[in-house]
Amino acid sequence: MTEIPEHLLKRSRDAKRALGLDVPAEAGAAPAEASAQSANAPAVAAPTTGAPVPIPASEPPPPEPPKSEWVANAESRKKIPYWVMPVLLFLPVWLIMYVGTLEEPTRSEGVLYEGGEVYAENCASCHGAAGGGGVGPAFNNGAVIETFSNFEDQVAWIVHGTQGYLDAGRETYGDTERALGGSGANMPNFGEPLEAAEILWATFYERIELSGHGEDLAFAEALFAAYDHGELELPEHFAEGIDGDFEAEIEELLAGIRAELTESEEVAAG
Ligand code: HEC
Repeated sequence: MTEIPEHLLKRSRDAKRALGLDVPAEAGAAPAEASAQSANAPAVAAPTTGAPVPIPASEPPPPEPPKSEWVANAESRKKIPYWVMPVLLFLPVWLIMYVGTLEEPTRSEGVLYEGGEVYAENCASCHGAAGGGGVGPAFNNGAVIETFSNFEDQVAWIVHGTQGYLDAGRETYGDTERALGGSGANMPNFGEPLEAAEILWATFYERIELSGHGEDLAFAEALFAAYDHGELELPEHFAEGIDGDFEAEIEELLAGIRAELTESEEVAAG
């Protein structure tokens, strides 16, 4: 480092004054210092060209922190959705469900929930939202249980409807032998528009939820669980005859579920 000794600077000022280049002491000091600085600058800058490094380095950081902040945000935004989004999406649903449970024991899943959905979309227009009846008979008076003492017959009726029974040469339907078209209207056939599973759940919804036939509940739930767990294969559509003779395979599975239920009921009772 080359430093101009103070006494040399002073001497040069004195020399300038002597030459008539009157330099005020203060003003003279300034250029001298400035020159001293400029003399220093290369000396300092040269070895510490790295010294400006802190400057360029400290310049990028200002842009960089915002950058890394965005990156961090973007990263955290990417990660969160995987598990938070479902939570956020279903939060309102859970809220509605929860509020629902406060008002009445509404079901939010399972056979009666699914059945209720199918019923609301396909059946309520004629049978009433709460099964009070309309174009079609009421369900909330338990009459449908008298009409169909077993649910398979009810499924067959829903699959084929009034016309299907007429086509099969029938004049009545159900255990109580109700006249086909006796109410002045026809029950549509749902074998085509609805899937087999949908017809099953709607049947149970009418019997259990609307007609209050609680005896079917355990079986309906076991059937639904078996289907839900992939243990019960249902055809896409029921095509069996009007006598409710389900395909042998399904009938076997139904029998198995019934047997299991009876067993567990016996265990519970004994
Ligand atoms: C277009 C109107 C209409 C729609 C929609 C309708 N039904 Fe019906 N339903 C009727 C009529 C009419 C009858 C009586 C039929 C007869 O007298 O031949 C009936 C009878 C029934 C019965 C027999 C009730 C009894 O006790 O006699 C059941 C069970 C039934 N419907 C179930 C359903 C289901 C399940 C759905 C929806 C998937 C449905 N219905 C949709 C008009 C309708």
